[in-house]
Amino acid sequence: MEFLEAMTHRFACKKYDTTRSIGEAQLKEILEYGRLTPTSFGLELWSFAVVRTQEKKQELFHACFDQESVATSAVTIVVLSRTEAFANPDGELVHERGRRFPDPLPVFIDDYRPYYDFLKAEGKLSCWLKSQGYLAIANMMTGAAAMGIQSCAIEGFHEEKVLQVLACNPNLWQVSLIATFGYPAEEERPKIRESLQDLVTYH
Ligand SMILES: Cc1cc2nc3c(=O)[nH]c(=O)nc-3n(C[C@H](O)[C@H](O)[C@H](O)COP(=O)(O)O)c2cc1C
Repeated sequence: MEFLEAMTHRFACKKYDTTRSIGEAQLKEILEYGRLTPTSFGLELWSFAVVRTQEKKQELFHACFDQESVATSAVTIVVLSRTEAFANPDGELVHERGRRFPDPLPVFIDDYRPYYDFLKAEGKLSCWLKSQGYLAIANMMTGAAAMGIQSCAIEGFHEEKVLQVLACNPNLWQVSLIATFGYPAEEERPKIRESLQDLVTYH
């Protein structure tokens, strides 16, 4: 399917056909779209939690204010972000990531540190870490649409409860964004969007 066609026919699916599952190969492909998504400084301070057992989906459904999209999904993916301490330029995780790049580690750290200091001073570290996950979810959703699989981004969640469901320590992880995936049990809804003319300014 063409990219534009996938974008056009993707819609926020609130109810899935619970008799249809997503195959292992398709799930891998959706996750691959997430993995290949770029992150700021290439740090990848995130993790993808795949929720697909009925029991866990039910628990997550309650942690997402009883949204039917979660309960009926074939698969729900929670993008987790590391907590602020892990973004420290003197920390082990940043060094581990930085060592993967062609430049020597000190070059990478010298490049990253001023931006880290800026985000920290502005109180935006946590938000910066979480925002990375939005791109991953967007790519997974569009990629899934190209395979004929519908999805819905889920921002309506109780973070503490979601972390509990996934047995994640809140000192180590925060929830970025969630997305449900499956085959719809409802009609495609047409797009409601402003026109390019109203949205765009050229400078
Ligand atoms: C970041 C984000 C969070 C969202 N959270 C929810 C949510 O918690 N529950 C829900 O039903 N829809 C959620 N949506 C779906 C939007 O309401 C929907 O995408 C929007 O109305 C446009 O409709 P469309 O996706 O069908 O084009 C979310 C969408 C985005 C992008």
